[in-house]
Amino acid sequence: MPEVEAASDTSLAQALAFRAQGDWARALACLTRANAQRPSASLQQQLVDWRIEAGRSPSAAAAGEAHSAPERASHAPGVDKGASAIPEVPPGELTAARLHEAIHGSGALIVRGLLDASVAEELRQQIERVAGAREDPENFPSVEPEAAWYTRSSEVRGAPAQLFRRPGQAVESSSIWVADSPRMACELLALYERLGLPSLLENYFGEPARLSVKKWVLRKMAPKKNGNAGWHQDGRFLGEHIRSVNLWLALSDCGGGAPAPGMDLLVDGRREIHPTGTDGAWFDWTVGPERVARLATEAPISQPRFAPGDALLFDHFSLHRTALEDHHNALRYAIEAWFFAASTAPARQQPLYI
Ligand SMILES: [Fe+2]
Repeated sequence: MPEVEAASDTSLAQALAFRAQGDWARALACLTRANAQRPSASLQQQLVDWRIEAGRSPSAAAAGEAHSAPERASHAPGVDKGASAIPEVPPGELTAARLHEAIHGSGALIVRGLLDASVAEELRQQIERVAGAREDPENFPSVEPEAAWYTRSSEVRGAPAQLFRRPGQAVESSSIWVADSPRMACELLALYERLGLPSLLENYFGEPARLSVKKWVLRKMAPKKNGNAGWHQDGRFLGEHIRSVNLWLALSDCGGGAPAPGMDLLVDGRREIHPTGTDGAWFDWTVGPERVARLATEAPISQPRFAPGDALLFDHFSLHRTALEDHHNALRYAIEAWFFAASTAPARQQPLYI
């Protein structure tokens, strides 16, 4: 199809011209269009490379700082406190104001059915495809040459994803950085755009949002007996003086009485970092169970049940843990995406321009 090729070449040429001018927003829009017109593994890889480069460029950071950060919400009626005690809204009522009210009132917000079940199922299959490409990178390009299912960018720093399995058996659990799957990164960014998330988060933060290489993760988790997941706040690692929102997308029936592990959360709007490594804590980064028990006398602990396509939004102050119980016997698939206010995105997490 020569017209398609010509259109893609034109978009690519425009992308390069905008990049030369340091206009990352337009450069990435043109490169995204080139890949939509004629998908290729090399364009997908280039998109990830450019996003990382743009994420650390001073001009991108300065653009973020140019905005004020109101993060204020006017009164937002109608947030529904369901049985979980974490506020819930349908997708059509997800706004920056409601998100602010929920996080500062209860520490989290649930959006039921943010994705259709069919989309959640498709993403779950794609996580398997990424894990397959990670496991057997030699074979994958021949299966689908126009897609970079697993290709590590030379811009990415850190150890590659680990796959957990018993000898001779299929991979049980994996945590793979989305940036290591340029094909998946393109898919998810298009999805976030369709959901209106970049503009919602820009409203919430008062400046553009960034993702990061290290906190944007495809997760597949097998249930564990005696798993003892630690209570923690991500602000303990990411830093207290940032602004963040984690979009945790459930792709399995999980939590509550479901067969797959979910998430325990303290329903608490106070935004403060609790001491770690004390009160019976197993690790120096976890909040001890005795302290959590004391906190739970003032604020309830919730273990919501999630259907595939439900979303949980919280921030780096939200105290939570993976909810592992002995009755669990099913895999949990989920996608974790930490968004940061551009001017506060931690450099160590390798910010990604979106
Ligand atoms: Fe966490």
